[in-house]
Amino acid sequence: MFEKVEEYKAMIQSAEAKAAEELEQFRMKFISKKSVVTELFNDFRNVPNEQKKAFGQALNELKDLAQEKFQALADGLSDQSGSTADIGLDMTLPNVPNETGSIHPLTITTNKIIEIFERMGFNVANGPEIEEDFYNFTALNFPENHPAREMQDTFFIEKDPDKVLRTHTSNVQIRLMEGQKPPFRSIMPGRVFRNEAISARAHCFFHQVEGLYVNKNVGFKDLKETVYHFVKQLFGENTKIRFRPSYFPFTEPSAEIDISCFICNGKGCNVCKYTNWVEIGGCGMVDPNVLKNCGIDPEEYTGFAFGMGIERITMLKYQINDLRLFSENDVRFLNQFKGTF
Ligand code: DAH
Repeated sequence: MFEKVEEYKAMIQSAEAKAAEELEQFRMKFISKKSVVTELFNDFRNVPNEQKKAFGQALNELKDLAQEKFQALADGLSDQSGSTADIGLDMTLPNVPNETGSIHPLTITTNKIIEIFERMGFNVANGPEIEEDFYNFTALNFPENHPAREMQDTFFIEKDPDKVLRTHTSNVQIRLMEGQKPPFRSIMPGRVFRNEAISARAHCFFHQVEGLYVNKNVGFKDLKETVYHFVKQLFGENTKIRFRPSYFPFTEPSAEIDISCFICNGKGCNVCKYTNWVEIGGCGMVDPNVLKNCGIDPEEYTGFAFGMGIERITMLKYQINDLRLFSENDVRFLNQFKGTF
């Protein structure tokens, strides 16, 4: 009798259950009403009186052991089922990092520009990329057949000769002012298109941000002050600014905006072509003809405008030497802007 108890103990201890059927077999054999343990209990009356106490104790221990083991085997099975082991997952492996993306550098720059101008009271305006000739050229004081149109290599829409892919964001100036009353104080970021060969320095599409302030008594001093403030905010307090006389049909007088090359800090480098100055955009006082074209009296109102290249500014700020990188979607490039906002 006692040998049987020891034998079953050993069997219980070494039992395994890799599947539900094996667990059921264990239950039948050691737990159920027909189990070997029940059989031993039934044999109890045949045990000599002086051994009854010790045998009873041994039987109860065997019963407890069987119960515990059954629970342990059942737990082991339910851990595996339906989740990790079934679908081949090893929960002890280190977890796979959750890759977050990064903000595109052009978006980072655009957001910074918007933030700086919003603090100066400018709001953001938008206009169409497929634009009528009138808004892209005529209303901006480009007379028909005027050579100034040649400055911008235009993509025309074949099916509609009156439409172009806008060559600059200046179209939004007209859309903003047309039929409205000053004051206007807006910046207009957006994509523009030109029929240019793609290279490290030029692309058939790129981004600009246009600025416009029209009110009573706006002067060139206001333009300068605004540009000074913007450049210092974006590139740093020590950046120098230079206005170079230029020509645009929609501004008079017109100027180009140069900033001191902070890449070489005056030592001379490829970016500034050893001149220590780099151009970031154009600006000027809104031509009276443009105001008239929008139904605004140039005797009562004046204004300034500017247009800057967002790629240009981004390349300078982050020392990027090839314009094509912005549109190639190479994650080795884009990943470098992780954590930059
Ligand atoms: N539209 C010009 C260009 O694409 C840039 C520009 C120059 C915009 C002077 C302006 C401005 O508003 O006043 O080259």
